[in-house]
Amino acid sequence: MKYEFDEIIDRRNDPYSFSFKWQSPAYICDSLGIKEIRDDTICLETADMDFKTAPEIIEDLKKLTEYGIFGYSRIPETYRQAVCGWYERRQNWKFSPDDIYYFPGTHNAIAECVKCYTKPDEGVIFLTPCYGYHNDVEPNGRKYVEVRMINDGNEYFTIDYEALEKACSQKENTMLIMCHPHNPTGRIFTHEELNRVADICRKHNVLIVSDEVHSDILRKDQKFEPMMKACGSEKLIACTAVNKTFNLAGLAMTNVIISDPDLKMDAAGFYSMPSPFGIEAVISAYTRGDAWVDALNEYLDDNIDTILQFIKDKLPKAKVIKPEGGYSLNVDFSDYGLSDEEVVNRIYGKAGVILNSGLFFDDWRGKQVHRACLSSPRSLCLEAFERIAKEFAE
Ligand SMILES: Cc1ncc(COP(=O)(O)O)c(C=O)c1O
Repeated sequence: MKYEFDEIIDRRNDPYSFSFKWQSPAYICDSLGIKEIRDDTICLETADMDFKTAPEIIEDLKKLTEYGIFGYSRIPETYRQAVCGWYERRQNWKFSPDDIYYFPGTHNAIAECVKCYTKPDEGVIFLTPCYGYHNDVEPNGRKYVEVRMINDGNEYFTIDYEALEKACSQKENTMLIMCHPHNPTGRIFTHEELNRVADICRKHNVLIVSDEVHSDILRKDQKFEPMMKACGSEKLIACTAVNKTFNLAGLAMTNVIISDPDLKMDAAGFYSMPSPFGIEAVISAYTRGDAWVDALNEYLDDNIDTILQFIKDKLPKAKVIKPEGGYSLNVDFSDYGLSDEEVVNRIYGKAGVILNSGLFFDDWRGKQVHRACLSSPRSLCLEAFERIAKEFAE
């Protein structure tokens, strides 16, 4: 089947869109001090795609809609088999169907893990710049502990093991949230990197939660290795989801994998009831979604190559690297030598393009670095970068 990714869907105005991303420019601009927003603003922030999900999933959800009873629901064995089948097929990662714990979204999953496996006032470590997990940690009375990664000067980030070991060796720091693939740097950590991290954490009794929700979106020359497969399941929890892969984030279906028997004991208290739509969507995605995800990856590869070439030609001072996984570009505008306010005003105000500023990721370069999600039709991504390039042309 040929899948369609070029169609522009008006998620700002469509009656059923309810899109957080397309209705958030005012909030984002306000937080950056921009008062005037263009009506034709293009939103490339938020890791959410502007493509319809796989037609196979839509077909299955239509059948469920026709069925017409949407009562309290429990996860059937077919769901567990579908999740296991997907990861065995696509990532050569085997775990038991009984290791799957459903949560209504990854933030809820991580926040519950923080509450369950750490104590108040303990520290949770993050490799920054990192996707924004503050709300999963601080409102629960735990500390957010930052370990900065090393930038080679061209936006390629690696782990500072010395700094990580220093943080792990402090008794009060008891958990590491690993973001793998790493958002926003786009790194897919290697077998060796994952094992060095796991060795340090285990030596100091620090529990690892590996957030792998972007793991299905990969460049064609990349391979993703789940951390649990690379390092074993001891003192390690993995978060997986259809949310990003199939553009199903609104159904909030996250599967946490816990195989370590010692961790399972505490996990017995985890209990949430998914909607029948969420259950059906997961079964459908993980049994019928392979071809769509393969086609999506090809389209995203081309989107990324197109925009990288455009940046090279038309925004030559912007620093950016091809992400190994995910669909985001982390763009550093600092070589333009402009003030933070001016960079923000040119992108969000004059060009009318909404990105995510570095502030969201604890990126110490703050408003000079901005993340663009290229999970939209190519023409829209190009238009956004054409507008930005016009504002930065000298
Ligand atoms: C790395 C990462 N983890 C978690 C989330 C949030 O996931 P969910 O919508 O399942 O809560 C995001 C959303 O962008 C993300 O990028």
